[in-house]
Amino acid sequence: MSFLRNNGYEYYDLKEKLQYNRMEEDLEEVKQEFEGLPVDAYAKELNRYRKYARAVIIPGTDEVQWLPSIQTEEGEMYKYFQGSFNPEYTNSARDFPAISAGLRSNRLLNDIVMFDYKQTFWREEDMLLPVHAGIHFVKLEVENEDDIAVSSPNHLHQDGEPFTFAHLIHRQNVEGGLNAIGTPEVAGNVPEEVEDSQLLKKMTLTEPLESYGVFDPMVSHYVAPVTKGEEDMKGQRSMILIDFQPTVCPDPDEISAQLKKSKLKFTK
Ligand SMILES: [Fe+2]
Repeated sequence: MSFLRNNGYEYYDLKEKLQYNRMEEDLEEVKQEFEGLPVDAYAKELNRYRKYARAVIIPGTDEVQWLPSIQTEEGEMYKYFQGSFNPEYTNSARDFPAISAGLRSNRLLNDIVMFDYKQTFWREEDMLLPVHAGIHFVKLEVENEDDIAVSSPNHLHQDGEPFTFAHLIHRQNVEGGLNAIGTPEVAGNVPEEVEDSQLLKKMTLTEPLESYGVFDPMVSHYVAPVTKGEEDMKGQRSMILIDFQPTVCPDPDEISAQLKKSKLKFTK
């Protein structure tokens, strides 16, 4: 039994676990992708930059299969949505700029997704269909002394996806960014408001590929805002966040009702 299965969270040092010959070069390439990250259009004032991609893993195969991106006027994008048959979310599909095609074939990125996938656990029936992975590249960047870059939401919370993994890629000249894991009951609070017995772990990731994962139903999690450090350069904290969800087969009546009102497209 894994620590993650027993406790709802786990720390990993992936530099140690994923070692291979060209890893440093691949890490450098991943870092470069963060240089060109566009501003998160859904959080403009928060000094946050973001790209996104979607992939599936078919249980029993050891392969990350990247889903196709879509071309729009703003460039190559991936749609982000939380369950297209969930009536509450049908209108909330958002477009995020795509992680570049070249980087999607980077071995380190694929190894990270596969490593995370292998930490996850599911009901037997979920293993009959693809598991979906959402891959977020998120950079917090602060240029001025009073800038503050904030992750959302800015308190202990649960994501709703069964698993989320977080991997530090780069950290320079920032203060803050403390990660905390709490019991589910303390969701909604910041760690300072919570009794020590309800906080399971506090840590600050500082080295590339330091990572952690959470099994969402068992814990809440948090990352503190970052501000600029004392050196004379931008403050940056670049992370890869990966969430996993099962393929959800909705109730047939719900599908019929939704199909009647939706704009439908041929599979081509
Ligand atoms: Fe989260």
